[in-house]
Amino acid sequence: MKHFLKETDLSPPEVAEVFALARDFKAKRGRHTPPVLANQTWALIFSKSSTRTRVSFEVGIHELGGNPMFLNRNDIQLDRGESIEDTAKVLSRFVHGLIVRTHDHSDVERIAAAGTVPVINALTDFLHPCQIYTDAFTMAERWVGPDGDLLGSLKGRKIAFLGDTACNMANSWILGAGLFGMKIALSGPPGFEPSAEFKAVAEAEGFSDVYEFTTDPFEAVRDADVVYTDVWVSMGKEEESQARIAQMSPYQVTADLFAAAKPDALFMHCLPAHPGEEVAQEVLDHDRCIIFDQAENRLHAQKAIMAVLAQQARA
Ligand code: CP
Ligand code: NVA
Repeated sequence: MKHFLKETDLSPPEVAEVFALARDFKAKRGRHTPPVLANQTWALIFSKSSTRTRVSFEVGIHELGGNPMFLNRNDIQLDRGESIEDTAKVLSRFVHGLIVRTHDHSDVERIAAAGTVPVINALTDFLHPCQIYTDAFTMAERWVGPDGDLLGSLKGRKIAFLGDTACNMANSWILGAGLFGMKIALSGPPGFEPSAEFKAVAEAEGFSDVYEFTTDPFEAVRDADVVYTDVWVSMGKEEESQARIAQMSPYQVTADLFAAAKPDALFMHCLPAHPGEEVAQEVLDHDRCIIFDQAENRLHAQKAIMAVLAQQARA
């Protein structure tokens, strides 16, 4: 069974198919979408808040002809001690796919191992792969040449990732950079380097040399094609809010910092944004800020990911 728990779970032909389908779904939205999830129900099990991920998956499943079912972790027996494995086995008897947002990354791995339907990681404390495929597609839309080669347009590009460089988005973007042939410079406070656990994953993928870490944000953005940031206080880290905001304030994406990247650099953020913390309002208002294209593309990219997984599950 094919799952999408981390960026590298799809083969190069599957990645190419996701990008081609995302482009096609976007171009034809509202006119023609093949009902690849007809007569199927896909359940979302969420243990954390969500605006974009929840809505884009629910709309996407509906547009592919399927039925979305949202299950808040608190509402099912999982929260009263039923095991992850039994939950995955039972739900697999009812639904055709599971989309899971949770804390421990090992939970999505356990669901995938115990269940018998495709599982999609909709964010864990460790990784957020749906966001990375979407972001890469969004960059490629801007950079693609007359040959139409979306993936080719990413190769050799540089991302600067600023702020909480030890969070799920930073980890995921390192895997994304390796997968898409890009480089990434991370810049955050001392102590926020990628974790030993993540470094082991990056090394196992052969991606140890795609990233570098510096405490100097201006060094990170030099020659960058994209300046990227995320919230300083990820879900689950609320108790550390004050300390994090104090430590990360030198890494705010200000207009000056953004201007130190390439002259045509894009500003990106997975959202939700906290203007005045990780990014200045001036940058959010910039004409090279493409955050709402990113948000929209969650729909198209995730429809493509579900289509590829559903096709594999039927095979
Ligand atoms: N970017 C993202 O995953 O947003 P939500 O938390 O709103 O789903
Ligand atoms: N790092 C953030 C991403 C939100 C989409 C979090 O985990 O809260």
